[in-house]
Amino acid sequence: MGICNSKSKPNKSVPDKSRFEDSIKHHDIENNMYYLPNDIDESDRLQILHFVERYIWQSNFFAPINHLLNQEGAMVLDVGTGRGSWLLEMATKYPNAKFIGMDISPVQLNVSKPKNAEFIEANILEHLPFADNTFDYVFQRFLNVGILTKSWPSVISELVRILKPGGYIELMEGEILFNNMGPATTRLMNGMIIIFDESGLDSMACHKIHGYLEEHKHLHNVHYEIKKHMDFECGEKFYKMKYQIYANGLVAVKPKLINIIEASSDEYDELLKKMCDEMIENESFGLRVRVYAQKLDTSNTNVKSC
Ligand SMILES: C[S@@+](CC[C@H](N)C(=O)[O-])C[C@H]1O[C@@H](n2cnc3c(N)ncnc32)[C@H](O)[C@@H]1O
Repeated sequence: MGICNSKSKPNKSVPDKSRFEDSIKHHDIENNMYYLPNDIDESDRLQILHFVERYIWQSNFFAPINHLLNQEGAMVLDVGTGRGSWLLEMATKYPNAKFIGMDISPVQLNVSKPKNAEFIEANILEHLPFADNTFDYVFQRFLNVGILTKSWPSVISELVRILKPGGYIELMEGEILFNNMGPATTRLMNGMIIIFDESGLDSMACHKIHGYLEEHKHLHNVHYEIKKHMDFECGEKFYKMKYQIYANGLVAVKPKLINIIEASSDEYDELLKKMCDEMIENESFGLRVRVYAQKLDTSNTNVKSC
């Protein structure tokens, strides 16, 4: 039997096609503010992003779940799985657990999938097709691009609903602006902030995720970790990879952003090149936060009052 709960409300916004904007392939979801594409370049960008994040944190997760992941049949959900890089690595490392990668777009795999991994299409802004108390661990990384500021609390409630009592939820987000920005980078990234604001997205979500988990009445044991800079020498190659993550995203939003920052097409391309030099020279780093919490087990008498 598949993991999806057929008794749940159907997830109506699952896409069956994409749309093209200025020749760039995007998700074709009504009322969705997600502005990044869903093409091969984006998939490659997400692969680099995964390697960079693992390197920055020196781990794939923060919650104390090692014991859970080694249990036969432990259930893990990766929300907005993207290319599925995190999930595939985790599924390979923890063969006893079952991993579900969920995304609004179909995952295009160019590698074989471990037996304990499955991908489904669903929209986090709607009721998810899983029964209450399904997952031991729910992981969500970099969804500030897809969740409206006003929707964060309801998204978290939905994730808590499908989490088992005693299970863990973990969120990770980063700032859009970063330290030591040169002039070209500042111009581009300030434009990104305007895109976030105009779309109703929260460019400061990383500073709020801890509070969202603290405030949720079914969660306790909330912990967070902030990374403000790299703790060790990384070298030019690392900052080039970081640049590539931003640059590929900025190429995708070029048609929107050139209007916002009032740049010509050539000027924009020049700004991107300068941004590369600036990021390497300044060793630019964007603050990121990861936070986890545990779902209260209400059968246990030792619960906090709601
Ligand atoms: C920036 S990517 C992060 C991917 C992955 N979590 C990672 O860290 O590598 C955001 C992902 O969220 C997905 N997404 C955006 N809006 C979504 C929604 N409403 N429901 C489900 N997935 C969504 C996108 O398709 C994309 O794959």
